[in-house]
Amino acid sequence: DWSMAEFRRTKIAEIREQVGDSRVICGLSGGVDSAVAAVLIHEAIGDQLTCVFVDHGLMRMGEAEQVVSLFRNHYNIPLVHKDVSALFLGGLAGVTDPEAKRKFIGKTFIDVFEAEARQVGGADFLAQGTLYPDVIESVSFTGGPSVTIKSHHNVGGLPERMNMKLVEPLRELFKDEVRALGRELGLPEIFVGRHPFPGPGLAIRIPGEVTKERCDILRKADAIYLEEIRNAGLYDAIWQAFAVLLPVKTVGVMGDGRTYDSVCALRAVTSTDGMTADIYPFDAGFLSRVATRIVNEVKGINRVVYDYTSKPPGTIEWE
Ligand code: XMP
Repeated sequence: DWSMAEFRRTKIAEIREQVGDSRVICGLSGGVDSAVAAVLIHEAIGDQLTCVFVDHGLMRMGEAEQVVSLFRNHYNIPLVHKDVSALFLGGLAGVTDPEAKRKFIGKTFIDVFEAEARQVGGADFLAQGTLYPDVIESVSFTGGPSVTIKSHHNVGGLPERMNMKLVEPLRELFKDEVRALGRELGLPEIFVGRHPFPGPGLAIRIPGEVTKERCDILRKADAIYLEEIRNAGLYDAIWQAFAVLLPVKTVGVMGDGRTYDSVCALRAVTSTDGMTADIYPFDAGFLSRVATRIVNEVKGINRVVYDYTSKPPGTIEWE
């Protein structure tokens, strides 16, 4: 991709110019954006960059391991992996309000990241994988008068508090351009093509209280759903697909027995920037195959439903 090769060269020069000899710290979320930003910045300034992966334990199946191996083994970029899942799950106990979850996760994320940044010591710059839609959406939303629909968690406030300057090399890009840049930088396809994932992770896909047990149940259902989507060759045609674990129990029958377990909702949408979205029209055979597998293979779920709501009026996530 010529334009991305050009973008890469220009940005590398800009980053070097902006940063000089200073140290930069970059928080990895496990997603494409922060990974692409980190790899680009590493290419520009090498070991002046330190990456910190604050692992809140709310990632999808196998994802935390993938990030660690991508950076340490594939790119040989030094990475601090901070496993703080117990801290996050402890703090989420009893929290059911979506915004309260976001606030707690955002704040705790910053606290942990800040402590790590201080340990690294002497960084003048903070790198972020902010995209163009993040820039717009944090200002206003759907053209309305600056209403916050959902407070997206990022490290807002931290740069001022730590007296750091920002490096945001992806600020002009849309998601598809970030993916093209990721390919240009040699990130593996499985990583580059991955659906967007919200900062607060599975916590906002578990309406009601988030527990370790419910995270584990959701991770299994979500992995089955995504596996079937990949096997059907549909993954790249979908913007985001995920399972949601509902705080509703329903009665079912399995073998000779009555079950009383949770409902799992499946979501899949097409979109170009996440601002508007249409549901993905799976055929009935596909959905019943996924439903059967989830109910048979995931203990704790006995019913599966498909979400047919577009955005607007729905949002992509359930919280
Ligand atoms: P909604 O649910 O608002 O989502 O239609 C639009 C896009 O944003 C993602 N999303 C988030 N991303 N922190 C994030 O980093 C958040 O709190 C958050 N909430 C939603 C969502 O996955 C979709 O891609």
